[in-house]
Amino acid sequence: MIALGKALHVAGLAVWCAGLLALPLIIHLYGRHPRIRTQAGFAEFRLLAHRAYTRLVTPAAILAIAAGTALIFLEGLRDAWLMAKLATVAGMVLIHAWLGHVISRTGEGAGQYRLPSPLPALVALVVLMALTLWLVLAKPDLAPLAERLPDWLRQPRGRELAPPLVPI
Ligand code: HEM
Repeated sequence: MIALGKALHVAGLAVWCAGLLALPLIIHLYGRHPRIRTQAGFAEFRLLAHRAYTRLVTPAAILAIAAGTALIFLEGLRDAWLMAKLATVAGMVLIHAWLGHVISRTGEGAGQYRLPSPLPALVALVVLMALTLWLVLAKPDLAPLAERLPDWLRQPRGRELAPPLVPI
C-alpha cells in the first residue's frame, strides 16, 4: 500500500511540477507574442493554457496531494521536516492558483487584460520545488528549530472559537 501510495505520489508530482514550470513559460512566450492579437493566435494560446491547466496540471496536483496525504497516515509521520515540507508545498499551491487566475483573466478580459510577468513565479517555483525535494529526501532534523518557535505556535491555546466561527 505504501509503495502504491509513493508511486502515485511521485507520478502525480512529476506531472504537476513539470506543468508548473511549463505554464509560466507558455504564458510568457505565447501570451506576450504579437500573434496573440490575432484570433487564431489567441485561440491557440487559450486552448493550450486553459486545457493544460484544467485537464492536466490541476488533476496531477490533486493526485500528488491526495497520495501524499494518504502517505502521512499510512506511515504515521509527524516530523518537523514534514511540516516544513507542507509549508513549501502550500507556496506551490498558491502559485498554482495564481497561474489559474491569470489564465482565466486572459479569456475573460476580452483582450483588455494586461498579462503580468510570470517569470518571478517561475523563479519562486524552482526555489520551492528544490526546498521541498531537499526536505523530503534529506529529512533534516528541524526539531531544534521548531523549539525556538513562539509558545503560541507550539501549544494548543485551549480557547473557545469566536462565535461567528462556531459551526451550527
Ligand atoms: C500536500 C502535498 C504533499 C504531501 C502531503 C506529501 C507527503 C509525502 C509523504 C508523507 C511522503 C513519504 C515520506 C517518506 O516515506 O519518507 C512523501 C514522499 C515524497 N514526496 Fe511528497 N508530499 C507532498 C508534495 C510533494 C511535492 C510537491 C514534492 C516535490 C516537489 C514531493 C516530493 C516527494 C518525494 C520525492 C517523495 C519520495 C521520498 C522517499 O520515498 O524517499 N512531495 N511525500
